[in-house]
Amino acid sequence: ASSLARCDATLSDTISKTSRLADIDWDNLGFHFMPTDYMYIMKCPHGGNFSKGELRQFGNIELSPSAGVLNYGQGLFEGLKAYRKQDGNILLFRPDENALRLRMGAERMCMPAPTVEQFVEAVKNTVLANEHWIPPTGKGSLYIRPLLMGSGPVLGIAPAPEYTFLIFVTPVGNYFKEGIAPINLVIETDVHRASPGGTGGVKSIGNYAAVLQAQTAAKAKGYSDVLYLDCVHKKYLEEVSSCNVFVVKGNVIATPAITGTILPGITRKSIIDVALNQGFEVEERLVTVDELLNADEIFCTGTAVVVSPVGSITYHSKRMSYGDGRIGNVSQQLLTALTKLQMGLVEDNMDWIVEL
Ligand code: COI
Repeated sequence: ASSLARCDATLSDTISKTSRLADIDWDNLGFHFMPTDYMYIMKCPHGGNFSKGELRQFGNIELSPSAGVLNYGQGLFEGLKAYRKQDGNILLFRPDENALRLRMGAERMCMPAPTVEQFVEAVKNTVLANEHWIPPTGKGSLYIRPLLMGSGPVLGIAPAPEYTFLIFVTPVGNYFKEGIAPINLVIETDVHRASPGGTGGVKSIGNYAAVLQAQTAAKAKGYSDVLYLDCVHKKYLEEVSSCNVFVVKGNVIATPAITGTILPGITRKSIIDVALNQGFEVEERLVTVDELLNADEIFCTGTAVVVSPVGSITYHSKRMSYGDGRIGNVSQQLLTALTKLQMGLVEDNMDWIVEL
């Protein structure tokens, strides 16, 4: 009887999965959470190492109300994508870079972290287990969200006694509701995303909670998102809530240097190399807000946003516009070069692609 019951459960799981998959509108994915089949979990017990990771059916997890991540924000996340190639094979983009960044962040947040090999292996296994949820070629990607958290109980401020590494995935399309159309940003002068000596340079979960108030206010006024300035001089560009920013002027492309308050984006780093390969000059330096006035094009980069063109930036109620409602030539050129690589449409001379 119990094996019959198990068989029934498997059958009903399959039916519900098939109907959930059939319900997906692959042409209008957007960037929203959708439950998939499996998640990956690996624990690091007190004084031990990460080991014995496993795939589990996707679902809620249990945490002590006293968990370090819930009380003191001891947590990091990552983001990367899997693409389905035309021949059906699955491609990951630079997963080792995410692993390394997680390890850097873990040091800052006083957490143990999986090795690069453990991380990449876990990502591969999670993607393969959820293979049906990878959008058809050209319709989007499978967004992979690794989390690292202090899951053990604490009361006073202290590193948690136990850690959990978890990966879930969800199919996604465009991040911004504008789709591929240029986004409209507003510069927030009184709210800052990060401060020197803080955690702006790592993917600490709290960095993203800190932008919600300004982002919500900006969206209520019709803007797509907020562009933040440095908190000391209030005149140097930092980044947008979820992405890095680039300023194009002629053949020169400038982006804020990684100074500790800027998130070292993997798309940022990749676009710099792609731009250099295409003959552009790239400058990583302090970029002043005044440079926005004379810029030819502005674009944002990130795993979620890929390369998103900016149509306007509003600063002290003054609106600066770029392009004519369409993506600029340089932004388009870089977007095309990057996505062709990510989707396996051109040869990968950079050794960035991991094929599953
Ligand atoms: C990503 O681009 O993957 C990010 O981590 C940004 C996130 C806030 C959506």
